[in-house]
Amino acid sequence: MTASHAAPLPADIATLADYERHAAAHIDPATWAHIAQGTTHANRAAFGRWGLLPRPLAPIAQGSTARVLLGQRHDTPLLLAPVAYHRLVHPAGEIATAQAAAAMGATLVASTLSSVTLEDIAAATRAAAQELGLPVPPQWFQLYCQPDPDQTLALVRRAEDAGYGVLVVTVDAAIKRADFALPPGIVAANLVDPAVAAPAPHRAEAQAGPLVFGSALARQAPTWDTIAQLRQATSLPLVVKGLLHPDDARAAREAGAEGIVVSNHAGRVLDGVAPALPCLPAVRAAVGPNYPVLFDGGVRSGADALKAMALGADAVMVGLPQLHALAVGGVAGVAHMLHILRTEFALAMAQCGCTDAGRIGPGLVMPMIGG
Ligand code: FNR
Repeated sequence: MTASHAAPLPADIATLADYERHAAAHIDPATWAHIAQGTTHANRAAFGRWGLLPRPLAPIAQGSTARVLLGQRHDTPLLLAPVAYHRLVHPAGEIATAQAAAAMGATLVASTLSSVTLEDIAAATRAAAQELGLPVPPQWFQLYCQPDPDQTLALVRRAEDAGYGVLVVTVDAAIKRADFALPPGIVAANLVDPAVAAPAPHRAEAQAGPLVFGSALARQAPTWDTIAQLRQATSLPLVVKGLLHPDDARAAREAGAEGIVVSNHAGRVLDGVAPALPCLPAVRAAVGPNYPVLFDGGVRSGADALKAMALGADAVMVGLPQLHALAVGGVAGVAHMLHILRTEFALAMAQCGCTDAGRIGPGLVMPMIGG
């Protein structure tokens, strides 16, 4: 594994917020505006409405942050959410992120819109783990349904062939505005293959005719039938990402999906969308205790992750912090960011008297009056 960023990490980085602060100087202003778009502040503010309840004197000499998800063991239930175009902030892009994830035994959910092919990401993960003598972490692929179902299927087959073990189907971004032009040299590497040559599915191209209803985008947007068809088309576990409504969570389970991600896409799609965190308890109640529910949206610390799990998530993902850490420190930055999160998470678990990440429950949090 080659270090793709030679500069030492800034000495004053102790939290994910520090990475965000430093990142502004490493990312050009147009890219910064693009990646920061969304209502992250609403997602973040929701965490302030819940407080963790410490349990001093609980026996914590032994314990584990490990968690089994969809039959795979994760050292810590903290994953890297699918985020498009890592090369926007670092020349090595997803290769560097994958190496960092492998070094930390963490799962990177590779985006359909990655700036490096899904095959190269999988290979970089395996090579890095092998070089370090570590087990290969579970590898997940995030799927955006393509305008032509055959193109979607081609992506699924490529993900299967490349060794991905879980398919995360993102359903909340089929219709959205897109006004960011990719800089020269950065492409949706998975989609330039002639077999899958299509524009990104969620790009609202300027077009004549209806803008929303009746438009090509609206006609091509995935539906529950699409989920059921995908369920038939692959033997990989299917996780539906981008649900907030408890009825949709239940419908995903009924359509055969093996899990869901409660997420509002960092508030980047729908102006005024509800923050993701407060949606968790109703979703958990709708699907019952044993159905895999992941969460993302505003997680910036181990305490945040613990709150989300106390409110019903089995695991959490972080999105934007990957780009901040990648911009500041390349492979080392992302690995360090993951290390910070994991250490904070283990500390918060221990301080709340919780020694088993599989037994995190609502007793760990209380609502903050007026928070
Ligand atoms: C995203 N997200 C996203 N989701 C997805 O399924 N496929 C994708 O390609 C992307 N791309 C993407 C780019 C950028 C710049 C951001 C910020 C987000 C959404 C992502 O997976 C996740 O839902 C949120 O980022 C989680 O919120 P935080 O952790 O960023 O606050």
